[in-house]
Amino acid sequence: MKLTINKIALALSAFAVLASTSVFGVSYAAGAKSEYKMEHVHWHFNGPRGSYDRAAVQRGYQVYREICSACHALDYLSFRHLGDKGGPYYDKAYKNPNDNPYVKAFAADWTIKDIDSETGDVIERPGTPADKFPSIFDNDAAARASNGGALPPDLSVIVAARGGGADYVYNLLTAYGLDAPKDLKLTGGLYYNPVMEGGAIAMAPPLADELIEYAPIEVNDHGTIKTIPAPVATVEQMAKDVTEFLAWSADPKMEQRKSLGFATMIYLLILSVLLYFSYKAVWRDVEH
Ligand code: HEC
Repeated sequence: MKLTINKIALALSAFAVLASTSVFGVSYAAGAKSEYKMEHVHWHFNGPRGSYDRAAVQRGYQVYREICSACHALDYLSFRHLGDKGGPYYDKAYKNPNDNPYVKAFAADWTIKDIDSETGDVIERPGTPADKFPSIFDNDAAARASNGGALPPDLSVIVAARGGGADYVYNLLTAYGLDAPKDLKLTGGLYYNPVMEGGAIAMAPPLADELIEYAPIEVNDHGTIKTIPAPVATVEQMAKDVTEFLAWSADPKMEQRKSLGFATMIYLLILSVLLYFSYKAVWRDVEH
């Protein structure tokens, strides 16, 4: 009897492993097109103990701010999220991210449309940490009008929204410039991109080598400020960094969740050991 239960358990777990790998395989293959091979990037944040590379997320914010924000919004993000625990500019000294000087400076760098509470007039003012990232266009129609009829999607959760996740976004940004297959008709305003469903995308290649100049990054490493020199802003570097930023924006609480998961595993392990010994102790004198 015992043996059969074991066998069933074994068969079930083998089935689970097979099912999970094949499902993963299918969703991954869906992003890749005929001859283009999706490049798999070794992301820091993958795996049960993975965490975001803070310097990369910070550089990624710079790429978003200086390039992508001309067309794409981040509807689910407020400036203060940049300074939240797990965020790229979190600083222990500023438990309240609204006081974080980086967050304040970034927010003030954006213009927010508001209503004057006394006159009711529409006014423009600098952003504050409590503001949401503003929409670039007043509405979808305006966004389409500026982009040849195509709507630039909101990027806050795009990494979670596309099969292939971070690899999809990275490959989408780096796969421009290849020769389109002869049978693909690219009408005006469309570009060949083998990662995009159908191979045609209405987004012009947003990145070009050294389009921006990276600022060096200061990180507080247990009380000492370390400066991470700025890498050269190649297409690949910017694509990696902005993808890391968008991975964070899609799942800002990932690190906390993983460390809680890890603590829970340790707790369960200790509990199992204790239960084992108490079982031994309770049944010690009983014949069984
Ligand atoms: C000049 C405007 C413009 C800029 C700048 C721009 N995009 Fe886009 N983007 C678009 C448009 C338009 C689409 C919709 C394309 C379509 O549907 O064919 C799009 C689509 C996308 C998509 C979704 C593709 C899909 O699977 O549907 C991603 C991801 C993306 N952009 C990321 C970025 C990133 C990251 C940057 C900055 C490095 C950026 N974009 C800069 C206009 C822009």
